[in-house]
Order: sequence, then C-alpha cells, then structure tokens
Amino acid sequence: MIVGLPGEQRAGEQRVALLPETAADLVKAGFQILVAQGAGWGALVDDAAYVQAGAVVTSREDVLGRAAILLWVQPGDADLSSLERGQVGIGFLDPLRQASRLAAAAATGAIWLALELVPRTTKAQCADALSAMATLAGYKAVLLAANHLPRVFPLLMTAAGTLLPARVFVLGAGVAGLQAIATARRLGARVSAYDVRPQVREQVASVGGRFVELPLAAAAGEGGYARAMDETYYQRQRELLAEVLQASEVVITTAQVPDGPAPLLLTRAMMEAMPKGSVVVDLAANQGGNCEDVQPDQVVMVGATTLIGAGNLPGTVPAHASQMLGRNMQAILSFLAPRGELIMDDDVIQAMAVTRDGAVVHPGVTQRLQEAYGTGLDQEERP
Ligand code: NAI
Repeated sequence: MIVGLPGEQRAGEQRVALLPETAADLVKAGFQILVAQGAGWGALVDDAAYVQAGAVVTSREDVLGRAAILLWVQPGDADLSSLERGQVGIGFLDPLRQASRLAAAAATGAIWLALELVPRTTKAQCADALSAMATLAGYKAVLLAANHLPRVFPLLMTAAGTLLPARVFVLGAGVAGLQAIATARRLGARVSAYDVRPQVREQVASVGGRFVELPLAAAAGEGGYARAMDETYYQRQRELLAEVLQASEVVITTAQVPDGPAPLLLTRAMMEAMPKGSVVVDLAANQGGNCEDVQPDQVVMVGATTLIGAGNLPGTVPAHASQMLGRNMQAILSFLAPRGELIMDDDVIQAMAVTRDGAVVHPGVTQRLQEAYGTGLDQEERP
C-alpha cells in the first residue's frame, strides 16, 4: 500500500501531514511512503530525513499518480481535483462550510476523508486532529496576547514596586480554552473562564482557572458540544459578560457550536469599555468570530483595545503541529488499512468520509448542498 505526501500548496501553510519519525513507523508497518521533493520544507524537514526514514522522495506528479492514500494538511482546489477514482485523500476539508468544492471533488470518484469529522470517541482520540490543533491554538493565543499587552502577566514584587498580575478571561473552555487557561496560569496571570456547558467547571479548576458563574441556562448539546442558541440568549449573555470584561485585561474567545457560525459574544462597545491597553484574541475568527467585525489574521484597534483575529495559529508552530498531525494520520491509517488493504467499513473512517464512488456521502454536507442548490439537482449540475 503506497501512502503519498504531496506537500502543501496553500500560501503560508508550513505544516506537513507526516514527519520522518512517523514515516519510519509506517515503513516498519509495511507501507511504502512517497514524499514530494521539498514537502517538509515549511516544518524544517529536508528530503534527506525522509529518505533516512525509509521513504522515497520523488516528484509531486509521481506521488499524486502512484499513491493509493494521500495525506494533506489543507488540500487546495487543485489538489481536490487531482485524485482519480479509488484514490483516498485525507486532510482538513472544511466540509460543512465549503460543501460545493467537495461536490466537485466527488465527481472525480476519489474518496475524501475530512479530519474535521473524526468522531470525539475514545477509540478515535489518537486520530483527533481538531483537538491536536486546538491545543496548539490555545497555547499560541496566550503568547500573542502577552506580546501585545502593555503589561506583564505575573505578579512581580521588585525593588521598583509591585506589578499586579494580568487578569485573563477565557470564553469557551473546550480543548483550546483549557490550554489557554493552563498557559496563562503558567505565565502567572489570574485566570477566569466561562462556558455555556457547566460540566466543564471542574476541568477549568483543574488547570488553575476560576469558573465565572453567569445566571444563564446551560446550553450543552449532543456529543459534548454546545448548542446553538437564539439571539435573545446571546443578547443576555453579552449583557452579563460586559461586567466581566471590564475587569479583564486579556480575553481569549474560543466559543463555537457545531455546524454553524460562532456566536457573537463581544460587541465593539464591550471591547471599547475594557481597561485601556487590553487585548482580545478571537480563536473563532475563522468561523465568523466571537467578536464584532473580527477578521482572521488581522490585528485592529477597537478604541484602546487590541483585537487579534486568529488565523492559522497551529501553522505558526509547524514543527510540533506536523508531529501531532503525523501521529493523527498514523492512527487513521491503522483504521483505514490495518492489513495493507483499504477497509471502508471502520466506524471512524465512515464518519470521516465526505465523498465516495462519485457522490457526496456525508449527510451534513449533502444537506448543505441541498440548502444551497435545491433538492432536485443532479450531481453533474452542481459546481
Ligand atoms: P468547540 O471548539 O466546539 O467549542 C469551544 C467551546 O466553546 C466549547 O467548550 C463550547 O461549550 C463553548 N461555547 C459554545 N458557545 C458558547 C457561548 N455562547 N459561551 C461560552 N462558551 C461557549 O469545542 P471543542 O474544544 O472541540 O470541544 C467540544 C467537546 O468535545 C468538549 O466537551 C470536549 O471535552 C470534547 N472532546 C472530547 C474528546 C474525546 O472524548 N475524545 C476529544 C476532544 C474534545
């Protein structure tokens, strides 16, 4: 079974889907690994390291033409159309927000598996690339905030006086939020957090944060995720949060709900009312944002508050991000080809499958296509 690493084509993407250390394990397990020349460059890995791991370094065309399974971080449009019937592509596909480009990918007959759709089960934990990347994003968000803050994070008692610790508030205590709390605590800040799922209270405490109680109904949904609520609920939440924000110099927002845009939790007025020099990092910027007018990869001033829209934060630590993604891929391969042959009936693989046999097979993606193009369209009529 040939596994290919074609490398990333997207501007600025420095991660790679497999590092040599994991490639060596896969070679030992019986896979043949083809790596496109220069594929690991962004993650500071040269071709020789892959060769040493037992992989074959060759042209990108050769990798795309010969591999049965191809590993990407974020395949672009050209990548999606580059596979042929029966080949398998794996990567972050943004399946629910970019359904139409997956309809186009389905037309090639290739099988596409989305990293976003790895189920949050114990069995699939080692394949959970979203959690791996959220961990890095939560860590990096705090460093970004610390860099922009005109104060230090820890309590410092010096001959020149006492510096009080920064007050950090984390909104949303999922994987990224918990890592942000732990990182801010390690830097010496006083950290509090809030989540609409009250069951995370203990988790917040276990990483050194104080859970802020707001008189709001819990909004826990299925599978450990939050539930999307109506505008009245979010309006009330914003009113309650305004007071918390006035006592915070740093806010990290991570709030998301499955299948929909991120809830708007911080308005411009709320950010303007924060202490002068405050910093807000919006980790949901790619999903529409928790903050009014936030844009991914943009830093703007809202009054005297710096608002940072997170873009690809895991991509700013490509060495470790690639290490984690490689291990996630290794786990996925153990479900997809446990004995060197493709097995599509594994439950994790079925949950990840977006296209197969010329059609879109994921119900969520199919629903998006129906919403966008109507129910009567044939596959060929879709973009
Ligand atoms: P996410 O990225 O979907 O959302 C981030 C956080 O925002 C969540 O904690 C959510 O409750 C919170 N949130 C949503 N709306 C909010 C609002 N209006 N105000 C405040 N907070 C709001 O979540 P993530 O990090 O993907 O984790 C989702 C769940 O999956 C968690 O329960 C996590 O523990 C669980 N999980 C389970 C795994 C496993 O069992 N293998 C692996 C990873 C995560």
